[in-house]
Amino acid sequence: MRAEKRAWWKEAVVYQIYPRSFADSNGDGIGDLPGITAHLDYLKDLGVDVIWCSPIFASPNRDNGYDISDYYAIMTEFGTMADFDEMLHAIHARGMKLVMDLVVNHTSDRHTWFLESRKGKDSPYRDYYIWRDGKNGGPPNNWGSVFSGSAWEKDEASGQYYLHLYAKEQPDLNWASPRLREDLFRMMRFWSEKGIDGWRMDAIGKIGKENFDDGPIVPGALFGSFEPACHHTETTHRYLRLMRENALAGYDLMTVGEADGTVEQLLRYADAEDGELDMMFSFEHNDGLNDGGELGKWSDHGAPLTDVRRILNKWQTGLQGKAWATVYLGNHDQPRQVSRYGNDSELFRTRSAKMLATMIHMMRGTPYIYQGEELGMTNAYYTQLEQYRDVEVYNAWEQWVASGLVDGQDMLRYFARLARDNARTPMQWNREENAGFTTGTPWLPVNPNYLFINAADQVQDPDSVYSYYKQLIHLRHTCPVVVYGTFIPLLEDDPCVYAFAREMGDQRLTVLLNWTDRKVRCKTVSEGSGQVLISNYPTHQTGLLQPYEAIVYLSAAQPG
Ligand code: GLC
Ligand code: CA
Repeated sequence: MRAEKRAWWKEAVVYQIYPRSFADSNGDGIGDLPGITAHLDYLKDLGVDVIWCSPIFASPNRDNGYDISDYYAIMTEFGTMADFDEMLHAIHARGMKLVMDLVVNHTSDRHTWFLESRKGKDSPYRDYYIWRDGKNGGPPNNWGSVFSGSAWEKDEASGQYYLHLYAKEQPDLNWASPRLREDLFRMMRFWSEKGIDGWRMDAIGKIGKENFDDGPIVPGALFGSFEPACHHTETTHRYLRLMRENALAGYDLMTVGEADGTVEQLLRYADAEDGELDMMFSFEHNDGLNDGGELGKWSDHGAPLTDVRRILNKWQTGLQGKAWATVYLGNHDQPRQVSRYGNDSELFRTRSAKMLATMIHMMRGTPYIYQGEELGMTNAYYTQLEQYRDVEVYNAWEQWVASGLVDGQDMLRYFARLARDNARTPMQWNREENAGFTTGTPWLPVNPNYLFINAADQVQDPDSVYSYYKQLIHLRHTCPVVVYGTFIPLLEDDPCVYAFAREMGDQRLTVLLNWTDRKVRCKTVSEGSGQVLISNYPTHQTGLLQPYEAIVYLSAAQPG
């Protein structure tokens, strides 16, 4: 296999901040930029290289900043441009980098472009968005939005409909307009000139709409799919090449695209030879586990080892030698990883959180840590609808429960497992009121388990999840095989153990992970032996793995 080309973003560990829930500096219950700046030493101590901030631009917050009303202004609740400059400076002063969230598939319906656009068919901004006439007294086609309901909204003034693949307050931009594209590229250059270090590109696979035909309908579903017409199209790749030439070239930026798709589809974006972006987030190991039924993502499906391994191995080997990868389990759109893939009971939470972290940080690709994951933070497990804030939850309730199609208790159970607010509860800093997140009333209730899951305790405890992450990150920084080694799947049929190796030059890592709460036999334990590089147990028995044990051996590569 061809040696990997070196790059700083391949050697980096990225930490995702969800600013609203990270740290509140002024007591209004909402996290903000000065709050981030005040906690940079915590991230530096952890070993983080790159910070990715979810959107911090002006927004009415229908979808917590993923609905931008002004790309050149900071969200009032988060602070000012001066706060931003100070934060960026403080990040750079510590040798870290900042990646911003680029949300350009859609804007907020309060963006001036949209306010102008909806003034009428003759508006000079009309073609900044996607307007169509209705059909047979209804919307232009059968597409459903990602957040339930039709993807079209009628505007009474002109009688036309506009497209919104997400909430109706998030109208889709029309990338076919050269003026719009130039406006977006100018905005991107503005932030690069300020000195940011990269972009995480939201919903980027959907920018190129190719036709407006009715989409296929899953049996039982209420709406058709926009996928064939709007996702991973040739047009999307053409726009991204224009972006590369007009907005990215000339700056040393890290780019990561967010788009659900197959290995072949995502390879095109991140192809090491001529891809438009550095790497892509794939969704199959999270959304792919529960997706597909008539309720979309809502279901009782778990995350069994056999499925997770099949999917992750497919991505690891499928991208190898062709494209760089991302590795992650959690983000602001997913439940907490220890609750979903591990075991968040008191007995196994710490062990299983470390086991999952070992898996991610030993795989090939850039690891992304989602805030609080390094503490083993868990799902919120809300029991009432009113506890949620997320637009996705309310839209799903409206579509399925309010209409009588699904039982409310069932839906609440799905939410408790999968809703995005599970990962959006405030960061648990210490044992003080509201977990030290705010002196006011937090915008989303704090998880009461902050009394025993919090940063202040864990930073001092050498056995904490936090200290274990620190060790994993240190290994990446000091051990090139962790970054550049070839991924080799092992024991692919084992019902309990996830195992793989990494090889580079004369070095071999053997990674063994017990995904169960029982002791299991594992024959590779003795063969793979060598020096124990890291483990979540202090002692080891040959041929046996303890519940949720993770162990990594470093040995000489096997010849051949
Ligand atoms: C992405 C974001 C998600 C947001 C959506 C619409 O999936 O990660 O939080 O709701 O795009 O912008
Ligand atoms: Ca605040």
